[in-house]
Amino acid sequence: KRSTPMQHLLTGTEFDQAQLLALIKLGKAIKADPKKYSQSLAGKSLVTLFEKPSLRTRVTFDIGIAKLGGHSVYMDQQNGALGKRESVKDFAGNLSRWCDGIVARVFDHQTLVEMAEHGSVPVVNSLCNLYHPCQAFADFMTISENYSDLSKVKLAYLGDGNNVSHSLLLTGAILGTDVTLVCPKGHGPDVQIFQQAQALAAQSGATLAVSDDIAAIEGFDVAYTDTWVSMGDSTPMEQVMELFMPYQINQALLDRTGIRHVLHCQPAHRDLEITSEVMDGPASLILDEAENRMHIQNAILLTLLGGQH
Ligand code: CP
Ligand code: NVA
Repeated sequence: KRSTPMQHLLTGTEFDQAQLLALIKLGKAIKADPKKYSQSLAGKSLVTLFEKPSLRTRVTFDIGIAKLGGHSVYMDQQNGALGKRESVKDFAGNLSRWCDGIVARVFDHQTLVEMAEHGSVPVVNSLCNLYHPCQAFADFMTISENYSDLSKVKLAYLGDGNNVSHSLLLTGAILGTDVTLVCPKGHGPDVQIFQQAQALAAQSGATLAVSDDIAAIEGFDVAYTDTWVSMGDSTPMEQVMELFMPYQINQALLDRTGIRHVLHCQPAHRDLEITSEVMDGPASLILDEAENRMHIQNAILLTLLGGQH
């Protein structure tokens, strides 16, 4: 158990390497022996709220919390953007009087920062415009199920330099995993986040890179992709399809680069950013990754809420 409990998971950089490795270990322990943790959140209530649609995040938190003996209240996007009916400050102040933690998927990262500032319970970022830490933690747990040493893994991310790519960069940098983003020109990651990841990588020894050239990922181990147009972006897919098509994950790419495993956070657009052949093929760890969302999130909740484990 840590001596100073971490309050929130907002960016994913709240955890240092040792804490992140401990979290992955706990996620694997919960996965291996769920019964042992069936009362770990007994008597605790969480609110999971969503300004955007969700399948995996919604269901994995809901079922995951129940598996730990806790209780969750789901609030969907019908409530509209937070801060409309009442201020985020009042929203967080009220929720904090009733629940033990808030899981929130929001448009604007600042909403989470405000919620954490004005509430008095842990806030977990379950996706915002800039980060998706629960996803990246599940992804590295999945990679570590297949590679014993994360500091020897080379992860290639192809496509849009979005929230998921940012969290992979930051988490890889903390864990010492080499991460290269291959994005079309003009669609790279946020420059400040990349610089922050570089600073973390300097401590762990990870090598990070951004390129628009697929040749940069020759000999890599794992390829990752995500939608080319994220939620909240009104750009029509047809408008960017042609630009992104060379960055598709397909069998030819795997053959050419020697990449052995493939990840996708989903929802996937089959035969756009990834072919059905690869998604359903032997290199795919995509459903393991989806399953692991639940286990790692349960580890996150136990760590932040200080349940028995
Ligand atoms: N990967 C992920 O967060 O999926 P959902 O949007 O369905 O929650
Ligand atoms: N980048 C995607 C991830 C979905 C889980 C989005 O923000 O829509």
